Order: sequence, then structure tokens, then C-alpha cells
Amino acid sequence: MSARKANHRRSFYFWLSAVCGLSLLAIATLHAAPRTPKSDANSSREAFLQIYKVFTSPRCQNCHPAGDSPLQGDDSHVHLQYVKRGKDGRGVYGMRCDTCHQSANLPGANMPPGNPKWSLPAPETKMVFVGRTPAELCRQLKDPKQTGGRSLAQLLEHVSSDELVGWGWDPGTGRALPPLSRADTVTQMKIWIDGGAACPQ
Ligand code: HEC
Ligand code: HEC
Repeated sequence: MSARKANHRRSFYFWLSAVCGLSLLAIATLHAAPRTPKSDANSSREAFLQIYKVFTSPRCQNCHPAGDSPLQGDDSHVHLQYVKRGKDGRGVYGMRCDTCHQSANLPGANMPPGNPKWSLPAPETKMVFVGRTPAELCRQLKDPKQTGGRSLAQLLEHVSSDELVGWGWDPGTGRALPPLSRADTVTQMKIWIDGGAACPQ
């Protein structure tokens, strides 16, 4: 092989490895960069269907009933002991939520779960999840009359950092978790809101 040919080959390999190296670097950087999901009305609606699955899972909907009794269990049956919402959502006289529900879960199956804020929403803003279709629930979350004037940003904040919502992902012995993690639920809410909070038909 002539010296010139060998040189050519060497520089060919040099450039090949340089190009490969650079493209690997580019791919790595793209992956590392925080991805802001581009959202439009379609992805917004899709995202809402994911949120809907979480909101209507037992851990969430048991405190968001249509009537004035909380629900219990993975089958969302009506709360035993004739427990009622009451004027402030914390039960009626003699049957206050904190009579049985402590500030943390009590260990063991069928023991009362706990959280310092344990209660139903107040009667003025019931925030019903049970029995709502995706379209109905979506419109409800955007209706200030039903959310007590809260904005979508405040709803997002509530789902991402409220400690009572957080209980849903730490529900104690024998209770199923919502279908999406809290982080994934928050991501879907962001996509929903960024895409204009579109509602399914
Ligand atoms: C122990 C009962 C309880 C459970 C369990 C519960 N919630 Fe709630 N939820 C409430 C109460 C009480 C309010 C009203 C809070 C307020 O007005 O500040 C509320 C309000 C809300 C609101 C409306 C917030 C607003 O800003 O208007 C959303 C959204 C919500 N809950 C989502 C969830 C999700 C998602 C889960 C399940 C992961 C869940 N909740 C589980 C009691 C509960
Ligand atoms: C007399 C005691 C008692 C009172 C009062 C009471 N609870 Fe309960 N609650 C329980 C027990 C016990 C459980 C657990 C039942 C089980 O897991 O089988 C429970 C479970 C629940 C659950 C089910 C959680 C889940 O996702 O499975 C909800 C929601 C609930 N209570 C809400 C309330 C609210 C809101 C109040 C007040 C308005 C209240 N409870 C008052 C005893 C009580």
C-alpha cells in the first residue's frame, strides 16, 4: 500500500470517528435537555382521558361522591356507620371524621386511613367525580362556580402538592393505587392545560 493511500485511510477513519462521536454527543444532549411536551387540542384531550382515569379511581372518587356519604374500598361502596359530609365536610356532630381517622394511616387491613386534612369537600363546592363522564368532569374542572373560583394553575398545584391528594398514592394496607403515578398525573395535567384544557366530546 502506498503511503498516500494509507494516509487517506487514516484520515477517513479520523473523520468517521469524529462524525460518530459528535452525533452521539448530539443525541445525548437532546436526551438530557428537559423535554417540554408540545401540546395541541388533540394531545390535550388525550391527556384528559388519562387524568380522568386517576380522578375516577377509588382512591380519589371515594371522597368525591355525588351524594353526602363518603365511599369506601376498591369497590367504592357507601361508607359504613352512616357517615355524612356535614356543613364543613368533616362530618356531623358525634360522627366527625377525626373520631376515627387519625393524622396518619393506622396499620392493618380495614383500619381507618389517616391524614390531618381528612374530610370531604365542603357542601358548596362538592367537586363530584363519581358518575361524571370525561366531558362532564372536564367542564366541571374549568367552571369557577364549581371549583370555588380556582384557576387551572391552582388545580394543578393542588394535584401536585396537596398532602390530602398525596394520600391517594400512600393509602395504607390493601388499597389499590391510582392507575398513574402522581408524577405522571401531573405531567398529563400539564399537557392538558398547555394544549388549551380541551374537553373530550
Ligand atoms: C380524604 C378525602 C379525599 C381524598 C382521598 C381525595 N380528595 Fe380531593 N378533595 C378533598 C377535599 C376535602 C377537597 C376540597 C379542598 C379544598 O377546597 O381546599 C378536595 C378537592 C379536590 C380538587 C379540587 C381542588 C380545587 O382547587 O378546587 C381536586 C382536583 C382533587 N380534590 C383531586 C383529588 C385527587 C386527584 C385525588 C386522588 C389522588 C383526591 N382528590 C383524593 C378530599 C379528598
Ligand atoms: C366511626 C368511624 C369512622 C368515621 C366517623 C369516619 N370514618 Fe371513614 N373510615 C372508617 C374506617 C374503619 C375505614 C376503613 C374501612 C376499610 O378499609 O374497610 C374508613 C374508610 C374511609 C374511606 C375509604 C378510603 C378508601 O379509599 O378506601 C373514606 C373516603 C372515608 N373513610 C372518609 C370519611 C370521611 C370523609 C369521614 C367524615 C365525614 C369519615 N370517613 C368518618 C371509619 C370512620
